[in-house]
Amino acid sequence: MSAPDPAKIQKFRAQLHQEWTGDATVTAWRKWHAHIAAFTRGATDAILEAAQLRPGLFVLDLASGVGDPALSIAAKIAPSGRVTATDLGPGMISLAEELARKRGITNIEFREASAESLPFADESYDVLTCRFGAMFFPDLAKALRESLRVLKSGGRAALVAWGTKEQPFFSATAGILLRHVPEPPPPPDPEGPSPYMFGERDRLRHALEAAGFASVHEEARIVNGHWAGTPEEYWEQFSEVAAPFRPLIAQLTPEKKATAVAEILAALKKFWNGRELNMPLEIVIGTGMRP
Ligand SMILES: C[S@@+](CC[C@H](N)C(=O)[O-])C[C@H]1O[C@@H](n2cnc3c(N)ncnc32)[C@H](O)[C@@H]1O
Repeated sequence: MSAPDPAKIQKFRAQLHQEWTGDATVTAWRKWHAHIAAFTRGATDAILEAAQLRPGLFVLDLASGVGDPALSIAAKIAPSGRVTATDLGPGMISLAEELARKRGITNIEFREASAESLPFADESYDVLTCRFGAMFFPDLAKALRESLRVLKSGGRAALVAWGTKEQPFFSATAGILLRHVPEPPPPPDPEGPSPYMFGERDRLRHALEAAGFASVHEEARIVNGHWAGTPEEYWEQFSEVAAPFRPLIAQLTPEKKATAVAEILAALKKFWNGRELNMPLEIVIGTGMRP
């Protein structure tokens, strides 16, 4: 991997803050968090399994958003284990804290923290997890080196990301939008973050190895995305929640938007049985150990 360009990384950071810490994102996740947690339950199960959790472990969850998988991890490592849930901005993580309080989860703490410069001592954690976060890190190599640093020797990292952009999660939504926008964005920088960057086979494995992880393993897996609602509700949620794609929708005239949404709903209806949507989700699971 070539050395990252600092100016580009700065640009990615500015975009990341705008997309993920703004009011529109936090409000949307507040509205839809329970639906999203159910829809992505397969990805949570995959990361819980890959992390090899047991009671008593100290776990750091990066980019925890509104608490997935940190809240589920807390239950697996209770009563003596503890999880630290972290996120870039205060908005998402404050909702995670609220949910933990409501559910009576006490073996968890919450910290605002960038994955690229973690405010934790060397060798503090047994396990590090990150679900649907690593593909947004402006300097992935730095974040993975930080992850290695805070793990104890023999500690384990387990990351889950989206797979290819050809899967319906993207192709039935953002893929259709991209065909209708007057000014499609340039393709993602091959060295920069993008929601589907780990769809490229072995990319996550190589990134973990380059950071110094040992016994690295990468697996692509299909899990079921179950949405207990209509395609229209699913689209409403996607359009509000998926921060990187909202600017595309904003570009459309009302007429173009109506055409694009009709196509999106037709594509989503392929997964609709009249009561619920069941969409195959391709995820990539990466694991590695601190030597
Ligand atoms: C798609 S959400 C995923 C959240 C949660 N882990 C989940 O699976 O539902 C992406 C999250 O990554 C966080 N994030 C992105 N880059 C980050 C970074 N460099 N450091 C910490 N958090 C970051 C965002 O703030 C956002 O909450």
